[in-house]
Amino acid sequence: MMKVLVTGGLGFIGSHTVVELQQKGYEVLIIDNLSNSSLEVLDGIAKITGVKPYFEQLDVRDKAAVFSFFEVHNDILGVIHFAASKAVGESVENPLLYYENNISSLVYILQALEKYQIPNFIFSSSCTVYGQADELPITENAPVKVAESPYGNTKQIGEEIIKDSARVSNNLRSIALRYFNPIGAHPSAEIGELPIGVPQNLVPYITQTAVGMRKELTVFGDDYNTLDGTCIRDYIHVVDLAKAHVVALERLIGGKQKENYEVFNIGTGTGSTVLEVINSFEKVSEKKLNYKIGVRRAGDITAAYADTSKANTELGWKALSTLDEAMLSAWKWEQKIRG
Ligand code: WQD
Repeated sequence: MMKVLVTGGLGFIGSHTVVELQQKGYEVLIIDNLSNSSLEVLDGIAKITGVKPYFEQLDVRDKAAVFSFFEVHNDILGVIHFAASKAVGESVENPLLYYENNISSLVYILQALEKYQIPNFIFSSSCTVYGQADELPITENAPVKVAESPYGNTKQIGEEIIKDSARVSNNLRSIALRYFNPIGAHPSAEIGELPIGVPQNLVPYITQTAVGMRKELTVFGDDYNTLDGTCIRDYIHVVDLAKAHVVALERLIGGKQKENYEVFNIGTGTGSTVLEVINSFEKVSEKKLNYKIGVRRAGDITAAYADTSKANTELGWKALSTLDEAMLSAWKWEQKIRG
């Protein structure tokens, strides 16, 4: 059986990737410390695929626990590593939490791969490594800028750790996927984003406002040098993003990688402004969204969207869902969990 470990597999992107792996015939093992997820996600996955993945509650900061896991489960083909903290603002307030959680866990997983000679490794990285790129769309050759937050720094450091390891390892074959802005939910509405507390990200804040959980959305500034004055981002449907992980893993399993450390931008290649996202939501939900224009949010960059030609040509992957489809899936999910 083709076994794959997904760390953080009960999280937003992890759970959607588990579904795609199972539907491609992989046996999936999940480790997750449930710090940013819940066990119901396992049931959601099983409802979609008919198979409840093997799950172990485990904190990847616990080196002994990581090695005990691999001592038992070292017959896996590879690891897709999502387990990490990802809130930019929180990382500014609590940098050591981020350096411990995001960096030490990565080192332990890589050490275990070396010990048990498990070759294939996919890393959850982020477009945040580019900061405000000088040129748009952003290619993988764009310079990695000085990180805007400890969170972003952990992604940059993580990539360096993998690159340095792959250079000297006779085992490791790795791919870092630099996500743009993941949004939406599985079309079944059985799994989706479960933000804890007040959402920091745009789309869950929109859907929580529409469902009545939040009074109104504040648009963080409309005085940027863009089409309508609001920031531009590359919003990618989480299912398209999940599929990219399966394609990347199969590239490694098939020995198709050109280098033992590769990087791919995973976005749609199209930028959308905040107001365009709001308009899309209002169109697909047929609801008027209650929002106001506020001041800029510190740290926001004006625009970021991906040049996806490398993933399109070398991975043979392309995002298929439209912004409207992604927004509708987010809305269906919000109604399901608050309904
Ligand atoms: C998008 C746009 C906001 C909320 C984040 C992480 C990044 C990566 C992707 C992990 C911005 C505006 C937002 C609101 C608003 N995640 N906005 N009102 O900041 O592009 O990136 O997700 O790797 O690391 O930082 O996403 O959804 O927070 O913001 O106007 O209530 O929506 O100003 O222009 P961001 P976001």
